[in-house]
Amino acid sequence: MKINGKTTTCGLIGNPVEHTLSPVIHNNLAKMLGDNLVYVPFLVENEALEDAVKGGHALHIRGMNVTVPHKSAVIPHLCAIDSLAEKIGAVNTLVYQKDGYKGYNTDMSGLLRAMKTEGIRIKDENVLLLGAGGAARAVAYLCAAEGAKKIYICNRTLQKAEEIAAEIGEQVEGASLVALKYEEMEELTETSFLAIQCTSVGLHPNVSDVVLADGPVYDKIHTGVDLIYRPYETQFMKHVKAHGGKTMNGLKMLLYQGIIAYELWNDCTVSETQADSILQMMKEEMGIYE
Ligand code: ATR
Repeated sequence: MKINGKTTTCGLIGNPVEHTLSPVIHNNLAKMLGDNLVYVPFLVENEALEDAVKGGHALHIRGMNVTVPHKSAVIPHLCAIDSLAEKIGAVNTLVYQKDGYKGYNTDMSGLLRAMKTEGIRIKDENVLLLGAGGAARAVAYLCAAEGAKKIYICNRTLQKAEEIAAEIGEQVEGASLVALKYEEMEELTETSFLAIQCTSVGLHPNVSDVVLADGPVYDKIHTGVDLIYRPYETQFMKHVKAHGGKTMNGLKMLLYQGIIAYELWNDCTVSETQADSILQMMKEEMGIYE
């Protein structure tokens, strides 16, 4: 593309940033939609976060994505925050406003949109959440807000699951959340679950690791979503599939968090066909040909 005096800049702040797929998403969307926009990664150390946000605003950078380790730390440096991001306590997208940046969490709206395109719904489902870290907390909130019937939060450290269950139980009226350990799962009496894997167990290069060992509980999982996308098929997904369930990895979540950010920055709508083309480009970048 031609960079000229009217080129808009967007970018990503995080540490590290060199393995990000976000430039593939945004620069190809700009090309596809004919927007004069470039997207670049910016390495930002913890102590430079405030300067980076202020500097970005001074430079009229229209939008920024925020990744590890700045998703919560960035909040005090914003002029406004969207209510979903505020409740989750994490921001991954900044949108330029006159007085600073407004923060959003498109990770969760992205996961929801990705699941919808795959025909996976949360409403009235019994949900098994694996993990109780930052990602699991956000997904637990999403499931509660979307009307899951019951949410079981399973974690190695029970106390962390209990804290999330209590906190979200207070935040979302009518939500039903229960904390348990992996060993207690076999005792659940429900027969059908949507399971969402929110831990880092199984992430490249430890591809044979799995947080929930193979066993009869997998027979009850009709759909298994893994937030991991490297490897493209995790051990958790392999177990779900082997027991007859449907699977989805985290790549579409990554795609749609980017698409929703792009839509917020540029006040536009990306179609599903356009989204599919970008997904193919992300897969090519990852060396996945299927
Ligand atoms: P994130 O922000 O990506 O969610 P995190 O907050 O560090 O990361 O959370 C990591 C999650 O993976 C936690 O649920 C953690 O379990 P504990 O709370 O018991 O530590 C889980 N996890 C990480 N390694 C694990 C392992 N080897 N076995 C079981 N759970 C593990």
